[in-house]
Amino acid sequence: MRNIPFFPYSQLFTAQEKELTEVMLGVCRRGAYILQQDCRDLEANLAKFANVKHAFGLANGTDAIIIGLKAVGVGPGDEVILPSHTYIATAASVHMVGATPVLAECGADHMLDPADVEKRITPRTKAIMPVQVNGRTCDMDAIQAIADKHNVMVVEDAAQALGSKFKGRSAGTFGKFGTISFYPAKLLGCFGDGGAIFTNDDAVAEQISLLRDHGRNAEGRVVAWGYNSRLDNLQAAILNFKLKTFPQDCERRRSVAAQYQRGLGDLKELTLPPAPDADPRHHDVYQNYELEADRRDELRAHLEKQGVRTIIQWAGTPVHQFKELGFTVNLPRTDAFFKRCFMLPMNAAISDEDVDYIIKSIRTFYGK
Ligand SMILES: Cc1ncc(COP(=O)(O)O)c(C=O)c1O
Repeated sequence: MRNIPFFPYSQLFTAQEKELTEVMLGVCRRGAYILQQDCRDLEANLAKFANVKHAFGLANGTDAIIIGLKAVGVGPGDEVILPSHTYIATAASVHMVGATPVLAECGADHMLDPADVEKRITPRTKAIMPVQVNGRTCDMDAIQAIADKHNVMVVEDAAQALGSKFKGRSAGTFGKFGTISFYPAKLLGCFGDGGAIFTNDDAVAEQISLLRDHGRNAEGRVVAWGYNSRLDNLQAAILNFKLKTFPQDCERRRSVAAQYQRGLGDLKELTLPPAPDADPRHHDVYQNYELEADRRDELRAHLEKQGVRTIIQWAGTPVHQFKELGFTVNLPRTDAFFKRCFMLPMNAAISDEDVDYIIKSIRTFYGK
């Protein structure tokens, strides 16, 4: 029997222990910890990678959304439409700036459903916030068309989608701003918390740069109220190092997704995510391999017995089901989805042999 973790956290370090140790020692020897060259380099590297005008390193992906919303002027009295199929961080960020999160359904590809968004627009809607979940970018044409029609802005939670594209354009670069998370299990993960914001808007960039550093301008003078939310230099140096091989890591994830597709595509008991080349408009990088299954809980128990660890995203609870937070909206499609969905191991380090073993274990469960 194999022992396949859902995500191999320690391998993030052990696979390149010598090189990463040097990177970290270098930062410590230079005594360069906060807003130093590694952070500036990372911001330039990220901007180039995503083809966006400005990139800022922040303390984490949640702060990135809060600071982004503040920078574009979302606040009390405003509504922001976002999918219920997201991490609580997306909705919490809207709440924390004093606005109201309005939750919407996901479509067949697990992404925010544009038709459902349109039904939820009100005179108070200030922004639509698609979440680029699972390393896929929403159909941004459809979302932008609704935003234009109703004169509201688009902002993106791209925490899970660095490297993903829609019609050749990178996730996080469509909206007034887009946010990234470098949480260790993310596509590009650091060794702690980390995040980034992208924007093509100079005025928004100026606000972000003040808000993340106590409102201090380039001369160090405080000119606005701000937060302490800077990506530390040690994490920035680690991310710069990992960014060098990031395109190959994304390709590896796509190849794992293709292997799952080949091995499981004929099982009618399963609904797989879109295959890597299913739609030429989408370039997916598979932060997660989220599928739907008949008898999901039994299948997961069977896989666990076979040494294969799986999880249900957001610990099984989409945001609208947190009644304690005051949500009363009814989202039957998202409810139905969460009775069937779960995620198989997906990362750049998993071997072909482990993926084959997972496929065989699933086929055995369904007697195929
Ligand atoms: C969709 C989504 N939004 C926001 C976040 C928040 O990012 P962080 O954990 O870096 O604060 C995450 C990840 O944790 C996420 O998956």
